Amino acid sequence: MDPHRSPRRRRVLAAAATGLAAAAGAVFAVGTADAASTLGASAAATGRYFGTAVAAYKLSDATYSGILDREFTSVTPENEMKWDATEPTQGTFSFGSADQIVAQAKAIGAKVRGHALAWHSQQPGWAQNLSGTALRNAMVNHVTQVATHYKGQIDSWDVVNEAFADGGSGARRDSNLQRTGNDWIEVAFRTARAADPGAKLCYNDYNTDGQNAKSNAVYAMVQDFKARGVPIDCVGFQSHFNSASPLPSDYQANLQRFANLGVDVQITELDIEGSGTAQANSYAAAVRACLAVTRCNGITVWGIRDSDSWRASGTPLLFDSSGNKKPAYTAALDALNGGTTTPTTPTTPTTPTSPPPTSSSPPPPTGSGCTATISLNQWNGGFVATVRVTAGSARIGGWTVGVTLPSGSAVSNSWNAQASGTSFSNVAYNGSVNAGASTEFGFQGTGTGPTAASCTAR
Ligand code: G3I
Repeated sequence: MDPHRSPRRRRVLAAAATGLAAAAGAVFAVGTADAASTLGASAAATGRYFGTAVAAYKLSDATYSGILDREFTSVTPENEMKWDATEPTQGTFSFGSADQIVAQAKAIGAKVRGHALAWHSQQPGWAQNLSGTALRNAMVNHVTQVATHYKGQIDSWDVVNEAFADGGSGARRDSNLQRTGNDWIEVAFRTARAADPGAKLCYNDYNTDGQNAKSNAVYAMVQDFKARGVPIDCVGFQSHFNSASPLPSDYQANLQRFANLGVDVQITELDIEGSGTAQANSYAAAVRACLAVTRCNGITVWGIRDSDSWRASGTPLLFDSSGNKKPAYTAALDALNGGTTTPTTPTTPTTPTSPPPTSSSPPPPTGSGCTATISLNQWNGGFVATVRVTAGSARIGGWTVGVTLPSGSAVSNSWNAQASGTSFSNVAYNGSVNAGASTEFGFQGTGTGPTAASCTAR
């Protein structure tokens, strides 16, 4: 074994078991057979999340929150986790707005994409004025403090954002961070892993959506990181499209070549300027590209209504400014419901000691009761399990999920559930789940994570 390779291994393992009497014993399942009626539910049926960027100050807007709660299963704070927001004064951290978004995500059972730990832009003034060792130390401290604050609560972190130059050079972008030394990116990733070993660590960029000099340079970096055991789990493709920069014809092929390196790929900031059928077709094509790539495990749109967009005049989102569904929404939903592939247990080929992937066969949840689906982030000696509880054909008033842990493994802490050994029951705010709807809880543990769960409804 290459001694430089990381002992870590990460896999997303999806397992589900029904609590119905008819289905005694655990059966593994991902998704449902029925077309679902929201973006989140439809994406979930393919084993993926469908997320949006969220601004904390808009959460009090009932139209905005109504759509968020109904449609999305992942949130990305649009600005609230950036360096200028979280460390406005060196060494003094400010998490209020970001915490608000994380709390809302928990309340609706959504994942959180953390955005972004190290970036040349939106740095606080004090960091903009630093260089060399002082800046490197400040970056390491920032990554440590922020990732530690949110430890166990982040599905994926954009550890480094937009570090490559546009154009044909394939070079790194010049920035104060880059001038601290070419290793600043891998230092940020290693630091994030140490602070929150349960989060997937992503590199995120724009103009890398098709194969070009910039995406080739990112590809080479990811390849190098995998070869040297630098911890990286995912690559984010921002996917900001318009007529000058349309969805590339080799979008899917580009996602696939990154996935083939052994990382997850995620569409992280999707928006497509335009209107009507043309916009709808582009959204459908973007969704289909993700569905066609097994390791494309989620799509995030960069805002909810057109009026929420950073480029509102281009009307690039799925809901109009009044919150009505646009043709683009319908096209994206239809594409999700037509998806036929399911992410299956991606493995990172750097740790031969982790358990083998578990394959899935998808019996649809039928009847009343509930199902529980486990997503596992695992490394040598520990794991974080995220469990999605989905109600069957009737609303449930409470639930209990039981998991089986291999001997020697143990649960160390949990969230959004009341834990008793390996049994987890709802807390006050997430017991009531409407027919076909879902809620999520999670737990962290030592040893090897669970492969099966049973769900009992009340
Ligand atoms: O909050 C202040 C407000 O108090 C002030 O009155 C106002 C005056 O301009 O500015 C407000 O802050 C703005 C902030 O958005 C919140 O609306 C900033 O000026 C503005 O620069 C900031 O823009 C954000 C931009 O990143 C900054 O680079 C956008 O909302 C955000 O959507 C955008 O997101 C980026 C991703 O992080 C990375 N990829 C590209 C993407 C789009 O640019």
